[in-house]
Amino acid sequence: MSEILLKAIGVRKYFPIKGGISGRTLGYVHAVDDVNLTIYKGETVGVVGESGCGKTTLGRVILDLIEPTTGALFYKPDEASVNQLEGLYTELTANGARELKKEEKKILGTTKDNIYKSRSKRKDFRSRVQIVFQDPVSSLDPRMLIKDVIAEPIRINGVPKEDGTNDGTGARVRLRGEVANKYVLDIVTEMGLNEDHLYRFPHEFSGGQRQRIAIARAIAVKPEFIVLDEPTSALDVSVQAQILSLLKNLQKKYNVTYMFITHNLAVIRAVSNRVIVMYLGKIVEEALTDELFEFPIHPYTQALISAIPIPDPTFKRQRLVLSGDVPSPANPPSGCRFHTRCRFAKEICSTEEPKLKEIRAGHIVACHFAEEILKTETSSSGIKKTRETAK
Ligand SMILES: Nc1ncnc2c1ncn2[C@@H]1O[C@H](COP(=O)(O)OP(=O)(O)OP(=O)(O)O)[C@@H](O)[C@H]1O
Ligand SMILES: [Mg+2]
Repeated sequence: MSEILLKAIGVRKYFPIKGGISGRTLGYVHAVDDVNLTIYKGETVGVVGESGCGKTTLGRVILDLIEPTTGALFYKPDEASVNQLEGLYTELTANGARELKKEEKKILGTTKDNIYKSRSKRKDFRSRVQIVFQDPVSSLDPRMLIKDVIAEPIRINGVPKEDGTNDGTGARVRLRGEVANKYVLDIVTEMGLNEDHLYRFPHEFSGGQRQRIAIARAIAVKPEFIVLDEPTSALDVSVQAQILSLLKNLQKKYNVTYMFITHNLAVIRAVSNRVIVMYLGKIVEEALTDELFEFPIHPYTQALISAIPIPDPTFKRQRLVLSGDVPSPANPPSGCRFHTRCRFAKEICSTEEPKLKEIRAGHIVACHFAEEILKTETSSSGIKKTRETAK
């Protein structure tokens, strides 16, 4: 198994819902609810799910841009501490989630290795990670020239010494004057822009160019990890392909790890090594990309995949239409959150929450009937069969 870059344990983010004249808290939006996540060095992990399922919130929490309600975040943890933490967490949650006791918190949450709790870890971590948003119009300061947009993070965070791939030693230098200008010019050239572009404002560019600028700004500090939050969703298909190929090249060159958030499964399939499927704040399925698309097990993943259009009129695939609306994350359904829309739902699904378990090698699913679904899918009806007969 490759090296762990980032590990999030028991992460929850509940947003308070305020109301009334007094502004009391009436409830909570369960945007991210008890998520355990491991990201390996050098991979692209795709995060997919419907609007509102908590993808952006998860991305922000694991970059330490917003404070989680509970949970711990570790960057490049050593193996022994990972095992200890996971063991402890499993023990704590064996009988359902509950309030952590003080001494338990100490090990899981408030150790100095937890980025959420350590000022020095936090500062170092933030200089190693970046985020790129869907809409560069709102993420780029409209009053700044492009050269300053890109130079700003370099001035604040510096760049890794040797000015090459981030070697992880953490030594950084701040660039100034001519050296900084030359550095910025090299970066924009690499993004397919040129020197004239440096003296323009963000509104003077097309959507695709603006996204190149946002990527230049992120890559300029030579980060080790970038969260790409729907980076191509606002672009037309040809520009989308160019940006995806640019991101792939940058990944190879700078050895950077990506978390790629999108609701577009075709994009996820093209860019990710591994995919995480979210539903109402929870991870419901996780597998390597080919495995997930060949053997989607969770009924929700199956429905998502069955909705991908196939550009071949002779190819017929059973279309699984999800009935009902997405329930409110302020009041998620009991038991399995998906049971209100699931074609396989039985009584147990509304009372007992299914735990994530490994169904095939490296393929984890949270569904009471995962094994049975896998069996039927690979034998009689279902997506897999439909796909095979259509070939
Ligand atoms: N700052 C906030 N305050 C209150 N609620 C929030 C806040 N940010 C997000 N939410 C709520 O949390 C839930 C998850 O939102 P999030 O933006 O993470 O979803 P998403 O999966 O990224 O959706 P999309 O695909 O539309 O970007 C939603 O119900 C949203 O309304
Ligand atoms: Mg989002």
